[in-house]
Amino acid sequence: MVSYIVRSIHGLLKSRFGKDKGFAEDDVMMLDPAAGTLTFVLRAIREALSELDTRGLRGLVPSYIERHILQQFFAFELLIVPYIIGHLRVSMALEREWDYEFKENERFQFYLTNTLEMREPKQETIFPELTKEGQEAKRVKEKVPILVVLGNPPYSVSSENKSEFIEKLMADYKREVKKERNIQPLSDDYIKFIRFAHWKISQTGKGIFGYITNNSYLSGIIHRGMRKELLSTFDEIYILNLHGSSRIGEKTPEGGKDENVFDIQQGVAIAIYVKLEKPLKEKNVRYADVWGLRDVKYKYLRKNDVTSTDWLVLEPKEPQYFFVPKDFALQDEYDEFWRVTDIFKVYSSGVKTHRDHFVVGFTREEITQRLKVFTGNLSDEFVKKSLNIRLVAK
Ligand SMILES: C[S@@+](CC[C@H](N)C(=O)[O-])C[C@H]1O[C@@H](n2cnc3c(N)ncnc32)[C@H](O)[C@@H]1O
Repeated sequence: MVSYIVRSIHGLLKSRFGKDKGFAEDDVMMLDPAAGTLTFVLRAIREALSELDTRGLRGLVPSYIERHILQQFFAFELLIVPYIIGHLRVSMALEREWDYEFKENERFQFYLTNTLEMREPKQETIFPELTKEGQEAKRVKEKVPILVVLGNPPYSVSSENKSEFIEKLMADYKREVKKERNIQPLSDDYIKFIRFAHWKISQTGKGIFGYITNNSYLSGIIHRGMRKELLSTFDEIYILNLHGSSRIGEKTPEGGKDENVFDIQQGVAIAIYVKLEKPLKEKNVRYADVWGLRDVKYKYLRKNDVTSTDWLVLEPKEPQYFFVPKDFALQDEYDEFWRVTDIFKVYSSGVKTHRDHFVVGFTREEITQRLKVFTGNLSDEFVKKSLNIRLVAK
């Protein structure tokens, strides 16, 4: 997955942005906004340095690391453990693979921050370095003209990231569907990270973002406004649908087993979005499927990139702007029939607990025990924590 995305972006930088050396070109600024242990960043660094190596420029590598990699490649992470491991991995790779000697105070620009937050960092009195981290991250978010955003953002339907900054940006994805009853799927973290990359590339005015994420936004009805916005900003869109959803029991078109590339239930897709300096009149949207066993998918991803993928041309149309192929041959006939809401004039969604783990039990005793927690003198906070009950957004 990582190499498919990195190699594709490396090639697109050359072919669409005149960056002859791809990631190795001097002014290519890159950001992984959910970087974990820096797998994507390391792969991009290797792509850049190998480009110099194959051009017989190995001698330039140390100065190049100093003025390009350590100045213009950035990454963010929320958690301390992957943050530390990530720093160690990059330092070790640069020192061992490329003989780089770090000077005093030199570091890779990997910051501990919440990407979806833009507030001034709190002044940390015990660890003042953390305040500095936050300030630097904020500078990158606000001011640095990032040309490439890439990575594998987290997903969480009940996102805790509700900062003013991201909620304001998300309004653009919600505008089209604001009258719908349930727009909760649009608040998933992975969608917020797509919105973040979309915003960051728009801010630069051109660039590429390539993510591997949950694939539900490609065809979800509630995601139509989001697709419309993406289409209005980006000139070229490449969707490689890796499927693998066990939720809907996906099978290959031949009826065989279709496995997920990760250990998750939700289907997955790689998407690469390109915003050119001179916008195209006609947007170029390409789509391809990769089906089958996990190993088959991995093998495909290791061997290919956007130039070798056999793409289908999509022409996403209003009102849905689907990013998957659809056959609309019978659409007119379909639209002639009554809508369900015409048949059932009064309607409502069925019973929802929103807290199955708490409300559902397999024996009477189990439920009785749980309810007894409410009869003692325990604090609300304790009860909430011990039963894992959260408030649910309406
Ligand atoms: C799916 S993992 C990406 C793994 C990564 N590609 C690697 O090389 O390890 C998503 C990462 O995003 C981080 N993350 C989650 N929410 C975040 C946020 N709001 N800001 C920054 N990072 C976040 C998680 O801690 C996790 O490390």
